[in-house]
Amino acid sequence: MTVSRRKFLTIAGGGTIAAATAASAGFMNTRVPHRAIAPWQLAGSYGDPRKNALSYALLAPNPHNLQPWLVELVGDDTVLLWHDSEKRLPETDPFDRQLTIGFGCFLEQMALAAGVAGYKVRTEVFPDGEKGPVARAVFETGGEADPLAGYILSRRSCKEPFSDTEVPDVAVRALESYATIVTDEERVEEIRSITWDAWVAEMQTPRTLHESVDLMRFGKAEINANPDGIDLGGPFLETLMLAGLVSRSVQSDPESRGFREGVRIYDEMLHATPAYAVLRTAGNDKADQVRAGRDWLRLNLRCTSLGLSLHPVSQCLQEFPEMALQYGRIHDLLATNGETVQMLGRLGYGPDVAQSPRWPLEAKLLNG
Ligand SMILES: Cc1cc2nc3c(=O)[nH]c(=O)nc-3n(C[C@H](O)[C@H](O)[C@H](O)COP(=O)(O)O)c2cc1C
Repeated sequence: MTVSRRKFLTIAGGGTIAAATAASAGFMNTRVPHRAIAPWQLAGSYGDPRKNALSYALLAPNPHNLQPWLVELVGDDTVLLWHDSEKRLPETDPFDRQLTIGFGCFLEQMALAAGVAGYKVRTEVFPDGEKGPVARAVFETGGEADPLAGYILSRRSCKEPFSDTEVPDVAVRALESYATIVTDEERVEEIRSITWDAWVAEMQTPRTLHESVDLMRFGKAEINANPDGIDLGGPFLETLMLAGLVSRSVQSDPESRGFREGVRIYDEMLHATPAYAVLRTAGNDKADQVRAGRDWLRLNLRCTSLGLSLHPVSQCLQEFPEMALQYGRIHDLLATNGETVQMLGRLGYGPDVAQSPRWPLEAKLLNG
C-alpha cells in the first residue's frame, strides 16, 4: 500500500518542515523507534510502588524533552528527585525556570500514578535549598485515584496545525478552573503574532538556534541511542535525510532550502491556533514554578480527556536579552501586577501524534 501525504518535521523549539513523499506501510513500521518509546509500555510494570509511580512520572512533558531528572530511593518510602546538572538549557532557559516547571509536571504525574495504586505522596520542594534535591517525596498509604490519571498514557504535546474548529464553550468552562483560556478572536490574533515574532527571534539568535540544533536526534538510530531532545524521525523525514534535505548542517543554516521551508511551515502551524491556555503566577520563585508545572500537567490531562490538543509555545516567555521585546509584549497582554506568565499553550483540535521518546527508569535511578 502506498500513501502520499504531507508530513511535518519538528525542528528547533518545535518548528516544522513539510515533506510530500510516499512510503509503504511496511517501511513505516520499520522506522518506529521501538526502543525509545518502550517506557510508555513499561509504565506501571514495577513491583516497588515508588518505581511504579516513577515509571509514569518520566512520561511527563518537559522542555526540549531533556528529561533532566535523576532519582534516588531512600529507605522504603521516600524518593529524592535531583536535577542532573549536565542537563540544562543555558541559552533559552538561563534561570532553569522552564526546567523547574518540567519537574513540577513530573511530580504531579508521580502523585497521580501513586494515587491509583492507593498511595498519597507528601512532597517538599527544594527541602535543602536550591543546591539540594528538587524534591523529597514520601509515599504513604491512603491515596485515592484521580480520574485525570486515566489520561497519562494518551497525553501529548501536539506540535501540529490545529483545525479551525472553535473550542466549544462547554470545554472552555471545564478548563477555566485549570488555566486562563483565551478565545476572543482579537486577543487570539495578538497572541499568534507575538508567538510568531518570538519564534523568529529565537531562530535569528545564533546561540539559541544552535542550542536547539545540538539537541536534535536525526532518524531512528540516533533516537534509539539518545531517546531525548528534539526527535526527527519517521519514514518521511528519513527519506529527506537520505536526500540530504534534512541534516544538522541544514537545520543550522538559515539560508538553506530546508530551513526556509521549516520557517514557512512553522508559520502555518503557529497561525493554525483557535485558542490559548495561559498559566500565571504572582511570584516567580522555584516553588511557584514547580506549582505551575503541576498545574500544566493537570491542564494537559484535562485537555486530553476532552479530546483537545495542547502545545506549549514558550519562546516569548524566555529570559534572554534578544527576547525582551516579545517577553514584554506577552506580559503586557496577559499579566497584571507583576505576575509572571509561566506557560502559554496553543489549544484546539489537532491530529493524533506519536509518543515521544524517553529514557527508561533504570537510566534515571541513582540506586535501587
Ligand atoms: C516548560 C515547558 C516548556 C515547553 N516549551 C515548548 C515549546 O516552546 N515548544 C514546543 O514545541 N514544545 C514545548 N514543550 C513541550 C515539550 O517539547 C514536550 O513536553 C516534550 O517534547 C515531550 O513530549 P510530550 O509532551 O508529547 O510527551 C514544553 C514543555 C514544558 C514542560
